[in-house]
Amino acid sequence: MHDLAVLELEDCRRCGLWKARTRIVNGSGNPRAAVMFTGEAPGKAEDLKGIGFQGQAGKIFEALLSYLGLSRETIWLNNAIRCRPLNGRKNRTPRMGEIEACRPWLLQDMETVDPKVVVTLGRIAYESVSGRQDFTEKRGRLLDISGGPALFPLFHPAYLIYRRASRQLMCHDLMELGRYLDEIGIDRAKQTRPGDVFCES
Ligand code: URA
Repeated sequence: MHDLAVLELEDCRRCGLWKARTRIVNGSGNPRAAVMFTGEAPGKAEDLKGIGFQGQAGKIFEALLSYLGLSRETIWLNNAIRCRPLNGRKNRTPRMGEIEACRPWLLQDMETVDPKVVVTLGRIAYESVSGRQDFTEKRGRLLDISGGPALFPLFHPAYLIYRRASRQLMCHDLMELGRYLDEIGIDRAKQTRPGDVFCES
């Protein structure tokens, strides 16, 4: 078993984001998980706490897990990049060079945890994990990447905050993902109803 890419604060200066970070947000959860979730990048709350998906996006993320009958303790969670990208005092989308600089840590996580499936959250995570640029086309569908774990791209939880119509699509995607998790024998707790967050009747 290789080492998990758990970095000490001073360790990584592969890109310029180290200058403004409080913490490196390493992966968290169960290092033997069969399901890995990969998000985009830390925001303010994550930079302070050092754990992915806090705040409003974190609430949607946890609702998503709960719908799937999963929890933070039964999955592995990481991000395409581990330090907060800032534009002044605001979050911004990670740049290509930052994503590339952080990719070795992501790949190291994937190799070490060795999940059966990687669920990517949003376009950036999908592109970093798959090396492809067809998120819109592939979202909500299972992808076989030769030699690696299966890939299942979902919307990013923060994308759904103000987009009710996309929540319907997310609802459909989650049902599809749930069916796949059952098919490959993932142990799932009792699930919440999709209508609780993602699907409006
Ligand atoms: N928090 C994270 O850890 N990742 C995201 O992509 C968004 C919020």
